[in-house]
Amino acid sequence: MKLKDCKTILITGCSSGFGRLMVERFLHSGNWKVFATTRHPEQLNDIQSDNLTVLPLNVALNSERTAIVERVAELCSNSLDCLINNAGYGLSGPLESLTEEQIRLQFEVNFFAPLLLTRDLLPALRAAKGKVINISSVLGFVGMPLQSLYVASKFALEGLSESLSYELGSHGIQVCLVEPGGFRTRFVANIQWPCKSSNSVDSVVYEPQMQGYRRFLARRMEQPGNDPTRVADAVFSLSNKSVVPLRVRVGQDTQALYYIRRSLPQKVADHVLRNMSKKLLEIR
Ligand SMILES: NC(=O)c1ccc[n+]([C@@H]2O[C@H](COP(=O)([O-])OP(=O)(O)OC[C@H]3O[C@@H](n4cnc5c(N)ncnc54)[C@H](OP(=O)(O)O)[C@@H]3O)[C@@H](O)[C@H]2O)c1
Repeated sequence: MKLKDCKTILITGCSSGFGRLMVERFLHSGNWKVFATTRHPEQLNDIQSDNLTVLPLNVALNSERTAIVERVAELCSNSLDCLINNAGYGLSGPLESLTEEQIRLQFEVNFFAPLLLTRDLLPALRAAKGKVINISSVLGFVGMPLQSLYVASKFALEGLSESLSYELGSHGIQVCLVEPGGFRTRFVANIQWPCKSSNSVDSVVYEPQMQGYRRFLARRMEQPGNDPTRVADAVFSLSNKSVVPLRVRVGQDTQALYYIRRSLPQKVADHVLRNMSKKLLEIR
C-alpha cells in the first residue's frame, strides 16, 4: 500500500507497554502511517518502517506539545484519522504524603495532556472524521485506597471523554475510552511514590496500609500477568471500526468490577468494593 493511501495515527507514550505494542500492531497491518511520541525516541530505534515517524515528546510540557501538533498537522496535511492518548503513570501513596508538585504532575500527564492534545488536533481530526481513543483504566470507574490521585485523573478523563463524545459526534469525530484491568507492562515499575521522608508523621500513620499495598504490588509483579497485546489488539480493532462504542473494557477484572459498580444497587456495590479494598491492604 502506498504511503499516501495509509490512514494516519498519533500515539503518545510509546517507549514501553501498550504504547509500543500499539505501534507494532498498527505498523504490522501495513495500512497505517504511525506518528509515535515518546520521551525516549532511542527506545524505538529497533523498529524499522517507512510508515513510522518517531517524535520526541514529554506530554507534560506545553512547548513540546505545541511543536508536535504543528509537526503532525504538517506531516499529515492537517488530516488525522486517529489520536490515541496513551501516555500515563500511577502516583501511589496516602494523599497526606503527596506533595502539591506530585499531585499537579499526575493531572498534567494523565488529564491535561490528553485534553490539550485533543483540543489542538481537533481541526485535523475533523478533516478526517477521525477518532480519539483515550486509554483510561478500571480505576476510571472504581476508587482505590492509596491511588486516589491516579483514580481522580482517570475519572476526570472519563468525564471529559464522555462529554466530548456527545459534543464532537455531530462533527464526525468519535471518542472512545479503553478501560484495561491489570496488564503486564512497565506500569507497576514506573509507579511514583511520596517524596516525603519515611519517618514523617503521616508515613508512620499510614505504614500498615502501605505495607499491605506494597505486598499487593509485589504479588502482582510475581505473577505472569495478563498479556498486554490484548489491549493493543482491542485498540487496533476499534480504530478500524466505522462506529465505536464510548467504553470498551479489556480484562476479566475490569469486567467484574464494572458489573459490581454499574449493575448492583449502589449500597451493595459500595459495601462490596469497600471490603475488597480492605482485603487488598491486609498484611498477610
Ligand atoms: N498496565 C496496566 O495494568 C494498566 C491498566 C489500566 C490502565 N493503564 C494505562 O495504560 C497507559 C499505558 O500504560 P502502560 O501500562 O503501558 O505502562 P508503561 O509501560 O509504564 O507505559 C506508560 C507510557 O506512558 C508514558 N509516560 C509515563 N510517565 C510519563 C510522564 N511523566 N510524562 C510523559 N509520559 C509519560 C511513557 O512513555 P514515554 O517514556 O515513551 O514518553 C510510558 O511509555 C497509561 O495511561 C496507564 O494509566 C495501564
